[in-house]
Amino acid sequence: MSEPSVDFETLFAAAARAQPRAYAPYSRFKVGAAILADDGVVYSGCNVENAAYPSGSCAEQGAISAMIAGGAGRIAAILVLGEGEALVTPCGACRQRIREFATPETPVAIAGPGGVRQMFSLAELLPASFGPDNLRR
Ligand code: THU
Repeated sequence: MSEPSVDFETLFAAAARAQPRAYAPYSRFKVGAAILADDGVVYSGCNVENAAYPSGSCAEQGAISAMIAGGAGRIAAILVLGEGEALVTPCGACRQRIREFATPETPVAIAGPGGVRQMFSLAELLPASFGPDNLRR
């Protein structure tokens, strides 16, 4: 399947719909994420916290689950939306989760309330990564 062309405004709009629905009563830090998948569909997610703190999940994780449940298998682009001065880049575990379904060149857009603030490739966020190919011997 050829890569769908990426419309970051559409990804931003999807993340902006998910972000206010985040369940973040502990951190009060709501995050939305949106994935353009290889099937051309946009899948979104938000963070869902838990009273047992480590059981919470990130927005990126939710978007990946939605993508897999929706029947797609590859991330063509992902956008993460959060607030605050510092860029809301994916946590280390989510960089690895994205890696599973992406390539080093996959764009990772970091957005704030006003739109995209900075673009990264996955390789910039997770250099020299370990992935599915490592297990193909
Ligand atoms: N969080 C995300 O959902 N994605 C990120 O990229 C950064 C952090 C969430 C996890 C937790 O619910 C809250 O933000 C504070 O860390």
